[in-house]
Amino acid sequence: MQTALRTTLPETELASRANFVPQARVVREERQEERQAQTTGLPLSIRGLRKSFVDNEVLRGIDLHIPAGQFVAIVGKSGCGKSTLLRLIAGLEKFEAGSISFGQDVQPEDIRVMFQEPRLLPWARVLANVEVGLGRDRSSGDAHARAEKALTEVGLADKRDQWPSVLSGGQKQRVALGRALVSRPRVLAFDEPLGALDALTRISMQRLLERVWRDQGFTAILVTHDVSEAVALADRVLVIDEGRIAHDVTVNAARPRERGSAELASLEGSILSHLLSAEDRT
Ligand SMILES: Nc1ncnc2c1ncn2[C@@H]1O[C@H](COP(=O)(O)OP(=O)(O)OP(=O)(O)O)[C@@H](O)[C@H]1O
Ligand SMILES: [Mg+2]
Repeated sequence: MQTALRTTLPETELASRANFVPQARVVREERQEERQAQTTGLPLSIRGLRKSFVDNEVLRGIDLHIPAGQFVAIVGKSGCGKSTLLRLIAGLEKFEAGSISFGQDVQPEDIRVMFQEPRLLPWARVLANVEVGLGRDRSSGDAHARAEKALTEVGLADKRDQWPSVLSGGQKQRVALGRALVSRPRVLAFDEPLGALDALTRISMQRLLERVWRDQGFTAILVTHDVSEAVALADRVLVIDEGRIAHDVTVNAARPRERGSAELASLEGSILSHLLSAEDRT
């Protein structure tokens, strides 16, 4: 705790026990303002990352550098370790070897994950569900205002007093996105967030994801099974195979991207052939 505080108080003496809590609050409020003002993403460097579950060696040496603010998509056959990698990045799981660094100390609010299922609290209204994403800042005076702003960003301001049960699947995912955005994360990881949505809702959510990423500048890491989604949204597509990054494909197409363009279709074709050759080996 003291080490963490020291790193957030450069050039400042470590708080004495008497003023430790008030100082911590000031630091938190300052950090909050800093996060709101400066919403640029963090870079991510992964070196020699290994993760096993008992005798199942899932990640066998992941080396990866993601520059700040890049949009990266991760694809790979089922069970290759995509969700495991996201969970490690988000600090939700421990690893045996290697390192993950963001170039500076991070707070839990800086890194967020959005999952395929919205995971809303059924007993809380929409606005309160979004406030959950504020974590430790949930009790701060501007929690309502920040949650309202996040709901507006995802186009659901008019649903703030609804219960989750009356929302459509797409609307629930928007609430989940609002909850992920409300803390102004600097790295936002998505684990197949659109997998359960119908085709049209999916396209509108893809546009929303791209818009909030452009507006807020966080570093985005999207796990998806849909290669056309990967090339439509990402600057770069990583293919994981046999516990490593087997292919690292840059998507240079200008934004806004034209879906179904020859350029994207050709990239999609080559990524699919990498995936199929991995599949054929099993
Ligand atoms: N908590 C766990 N305990 C034991 N094994 C696990 C655990 N979590 C994941 N695994 C195993 O690790 C491997 C990778 O799982 P992971 O969920 O990361 O795959 P994935 O690439 O996300 O697959 P999918 O595309 O189906 O979501 C699988 O073999 C899985 O069974
Ligand atoms: Mg998964």
